[in-house]
Amino acid sequence: MLQPINPICVALDTPDIAQASQLAKALRGHVGLVKIGMEFYYANGAAGYQAVAEAQVPIFLDLKLHDIPNTVGEGLQSLMKLAPPPAIVNVHATGGAAMMEAAVSAVAGRSRLIAVTILTSLSDTDLSAAGFVSDRNTAQHAVKLAKLARECGVDGVVCSAHEIAAIKQACGTDFLTVVPGIRPGGTSVQDQKRIATPRAACDAGADVLVIGRPITRAKDPVLAARAIADELCEGVS
Ligand code: C5P
Repeated sequence: MLQPINPICVALDTPDIAQASQLAKALRGHVGLVKIGMEFYYANGAAGYQAVAEAQVPIFLDLKLHDIPNTVGEGLQSLMKLAPPPAIVNVHATGGAAMMEAAVSAVAGRSRLIAVTILTSLSDTDLSAAGFVSDRNTAQHAVKLAKLARECGVDGVVCSAHEIAAIKQACGTDFLTVVPGIRPGGTSVQDQKRIATPRAACDAGADVLVIGRPITRAKDPVLAARAIADELCEGVS
């Protein structure tokens, strides 16, 4: 089961092993998870993963697999050999039901499996250009894909804070929502579009808050993470 010490998942977003592992070590005890993605794993592979895992903070390995069911299943079998296995791995829901079912079988409960529904970088126009039927907007596609993911046995989805309510309503409150686009009050929005504060996202039902630059680019990342954790605890007895 995924039981991080708090919902904060820091997106390390670097291909640099030393930088990623130092930050993960510094944040140990302050955040629930760290996230490493394609830029890190393609550069450093299992050895890089191991270096970050030494910090003993649960890892979200954000590789967004998308291929035929057999290839995704075998890819995840390989990732499950990492020790310890990642706390969270993910696939694209648009890979279809058979692919998600193959992913669920391959993971076999060793990690939480999350689906990416519609990338937040895609607009309604992009979806229509890619051949998605035009009578649904991106949010409606996201809910439809979340329901399909749930039916396949996937544990949750990545979504914006603004989609949490609709997804929890369609898929149940135990269906995990992993939410990027988090900006504490007073921090820069940067390139994010649909943002929420950590507290607002948690109040909306977010299970995991993916937070990158507001922590990694802070003068003192530990202090920035602590301030967010404290904000989340305020008023919680
Ligand atoms: O620095 P920032 O907080 O914007 O980082 C957010 C992290 O969440 C990055 O790793 C980004 O790639 C990821 N992400 C996102 N939006 C999505 C899916 C993932 O921002 N829809």
